[in-house]
Amino acid sequence: MEKKIIIAIDGHSSSGKSTMAKDLAREIGYIYIDTGAMYRAVTLYCLRKGYIQGDTIQEEALKADLDQMDISFRYNAETGRPDTYLNGEKVEKEIRSMEVADKVSLIAALGFVRRAMVAKQQEMGKAKGIVMDGRDIGTVVFPDAELKVFVTASPEVRARRRLEELQAKGEQTTYEEVLANVKKRDYIDSTREESPLRQAPDALVLDNSEMTIPEQKKWLRDQFEAAVCSS
Ligand code: DC
Repeated sequence: MEKKIIIAIDGHSSSGKSTMAKDLAREIGYIYIDTGAMYRAVTLYCLRKGYIQGDTIQEEALKADLDQMDISFRYNAETGRPDTYLNGEKVEKEIRSMEVADKVSLIAALGFVRRAMVAKQQEMGKAKGIVMDGRDIGTVVFPDAELKVFVTASPEVRARRRLEELQAKGEQTTYEEVLANVKKRDYIDSTREESPLRQAPDALVLDNSEMTIPEQKKWLRDQFEAAVCSS
């Protein structure tokens, strides 16, 4: 049987990395984990509990609840993709709202939240055969991953993609608003003290600003075949 590996896919928000990662996982029969969804689920939890006021978070209250917070993924046969569950409730739609997008960087910058999520992610990837996407997978979660990819595209291209996604879901927003959110998240994600977004020195970089989805899929599949051969 072919050896199972760990595929770490990091990169900027709305770079299209999740779509690539999900499609690859389905094609090769690996488990897909969207770690951004985990930080989003924690953010949704905090918003519902009233733990976020403006840019201030009630850290002690969140710390006390974090151990009992159950974040999991279940395969959805209809979409062929996993849905995110928070304490048993399907929250896939709720975690993609602008309200959550606007606050998630604050939550993802908290050291105790990151440590809890990283521990869960390492547990999920123990058996290998996993495609995990996020910001710190190749640097912190699985520094020994057999394949590391860093995906990026210009902020303008990413804002346009995100706007289309949000409009398809019926969210009322503008290009300017989405572009500002993309830039703000880039800034917070790459300047935070805890595990800032950075490229692993041994990651393969993919700038997909000018690429079609089939081109990106083929590129990733080729990298996967090469990584399996050389591992
Ligand atoms: O990939 P995404 O847009 O769903 O990620 C949501 C937020 O979570 C984003 O601000 C970056 C952060 N994140 C992180 O800090 N570390 C990860 N491994 C994944 C996401």
